[in-house]
Amino acid sequence: MSDSDEGPELEARLAEQDVFEPPASFTDQANVTDPAIYEEFEENWPDCWAAAADLLEWEDSYDRVLDDDNPPFYEWFTGGKLNASANCIDRHLAERGDEAAIEWVGEPVDEANRTYTYEELHREVNEAAAALRDLGVGEDDVVTLYMPMIPELPIVMLACARIGAPHSVVFAGFSADALATRMNAADSEYLVTCDGYYRRGDALDHLEKATEGLDGVEHDTETVVVERLAANGDGVDHDLGPDQRTYDDLLAGHEGATVEPVSRDAEDMLFLMYTSGTTGKPKGVKHTTGGYLAWASWTSQSVLDVKPEDTYFCSADIGWITGHSYIVYGPLALGTTTMMYEGAPDQPDRDRLWEIVEEYEATQLYTAPTAIRAFMKWGEEYPAEHDLSSLRLLGTVGEPINPRAWKWYYKHIGGEDCPIVDTWWQTETGGMMITTLPGIGDMKPGSAGPPLPGLDVRIVDTAGEEIGAGEAGYLTVQKPWPGMLRTLYNNDERYIEEYWAEYSDVDSDDPDDWVYFPEDGAKIDDDGYITVLGRVDDVINVSGHRLGTMEIESAIVGVEGVAEAAVVGGNHEIKGEAVYAYVITEEGYAETDDLRQRIIDGVNEAIGPIAKPEQVIFTPELPKTRSGKIMRRLLENIANDEELGNTSTLRNPEVVEDIQRTVQGD
Ligand code: WT7
Repeated sequence: MSDSDEGPELEARLAEQDVFEPPASFTDQANVTDPAIYEEFEENWPDCWAAAADLLEWEDSYDRVLDDDNPPFYEWFTGGKLNASANCIDRHLAERGDEAAIEWVGEPVDEANRTYTYEELHREVNEAAAALRDLGVGEDDVVTLYMPMIPELPIVMLACARIGAPHSVVFAGFSADALATRMNAADSEYLVTCDGYYRRGDALDHLEKATEGLDGVEHDTETVVVERLAANGDGVDHDLGPDQRTYDDLLAGHEGATVEPVSRDAEDMLFLMYTSGTTGKPKGVKHTTGGYLAWASWTSQSVLDVKPEDTYFCSADIGWITGHSYIVYGPLALGTTTMMYEGAPDQPDRDRLWEIVEEYEATQLYTAPTAIRAFMKWGEEYPAEHDLSSLRLLGTVGEPINPRAWKWYYKHIGGEDCPIVDTWWQTETGGMMITTLPGIGDMKPGSAGPPLPGLDVRIVDTAGEEIGAGEAGYLTVQKPWPGMLRTLYNNDERYIEEYWAEYSDVDSDDPDDWVYFPEDGAKIDDDGYITVLGRVDDVINVSGHRLGTMEIESAIVGVEGVAEAAVVGGNHEIKGEAVYAYVITEEGYAETDDLRQRIIDGVNEAIGPIAKPEQVIFTPELPKTRSGKIMRRLLENIANDEELGNTSTLRNPEVVEDIQRTVQGD
């Protein structure tokens, strides 16, 4: 931290400055420094992506970089064979066997920190792989993992990868119903979960939720329970059924076992990850072994500047894609030390993250704008108490970051000495897509930057025509890339419909006629820098988490006494967006606080606490167009206390002002 030049002048300069050069101390040592990379990749496309594949160890090398014979079912590195767990562990043993692979920082309550060297990780993963195989898990069986940030989560992910069983990680904060939906959709017969965990010092029962979820699974399942709490003597009482065993029992008899990594085709599924979409049903995004791992590795190396000797810290949860790509697969494939922390950033105090950075001498920090906004609100005195000089690079992901938060992060965390990468990507893209390369590009707060080399990103209008600098339009990706999703699990049709139909000629087999649509709005500057404006579908972004409004609405109309509901995102200081629910009650039900609470509980139960409405607004009617479509835009205007847009196309314009009065009177 440099607080030597503190003062109003500096503040004023920072506030006005809109372009920042990467510091020389960084560029002097960066993994990628030659600006010619952009041109080279464009000229050599798609062969340029051999650079990503070359970061991996292949058992059989691939025949073709890209097979685009059947768009949009692209295949990458075809003919190649590899194993993700061998790439993330075994190949580092000779040189880095005694170095830390994972630094786990547990909840402060029991001081349960653990270090796993690559040697130790290898042993744990092998034993788990042997035990899972014994349980009956075969190649291509989907194993569901429903665990918080405990080391067994990445260990079991890697064990699955070792035996060729795709994992499907369900965020631990999701509800029992959400777990059941995902296990049913994936036909997953195996669940690895835990008895409970700590959150803000309290022991939480997790098994109860998992068991309730299993009640909703339509097929037979085997369950394994990691004892996070029982191991501490904090156990919640639980009787395991005949198809359930503890993780310790599963591993018993497998001490020292080794499992030969299964040879997987580059295109074999590595994992599934369910994410929210426009309709109520979550989408099972399929990622592959070769292309995904190459993408996670290449972006970790070129954007996060990861080097083996780093102690790299991403504060995300492994239950989301950020944790998959940038806590587990990317960093471990590069042989570095990756950190994972359990807990909350304000527990025991608001300097939790800074304490961790200082203690472990973290070299990178990758976090979300929602966290940065909270840090800002708590005040600069918390980071100022700590030595953060080990940091070399900062990153953000999940939602747009406003320039004020960017500058706060730059100054108070990075000490004006670390580049910031603002990385735009999605569950579906597998890894980063739009960001500056930190050793090359100038940074412009609020703008993610240019597309990575080798990517063809264009901003278009509704007709698909490219639009000029400064105008708002739609983000599109016009050429495939190795980390892309391959399809939606068991649903090729929905894959085309959700991501391609909008701007592609779906009857063509010419890849030039196929355009990927991520459903984000964006604008581009003269210099090719892209500012992402947010989702243009019915998806909202709460604290960097993606939620489908339809999913929430269907949870609300499931509550007794509710006739109809419309959900929109309203601005929120910390969360970015918050859930606003407009609700029409059924005949005979009063608009009471009790019903309001039952609605909130209903959403909590169907999805999880992150989706709970900030406000439930009762209304006798919803604003609808003449064709009966709900005008969400107006509901958003009301939630945000904005000027109302055009109401002339409404069937019931008078209702809008009524709702507005209700909200303002609240
Ligand atoms: C959506 C994807 C990528 C991992 C975490 C979220 C938004 C993501 C940025 C950014 C502006 C961003 C987009 C995107 N988003 N990163 N740097 N700037 N918006 O993954 O849950 O799949 O959500 O998050 O709207 O479509 P996800």
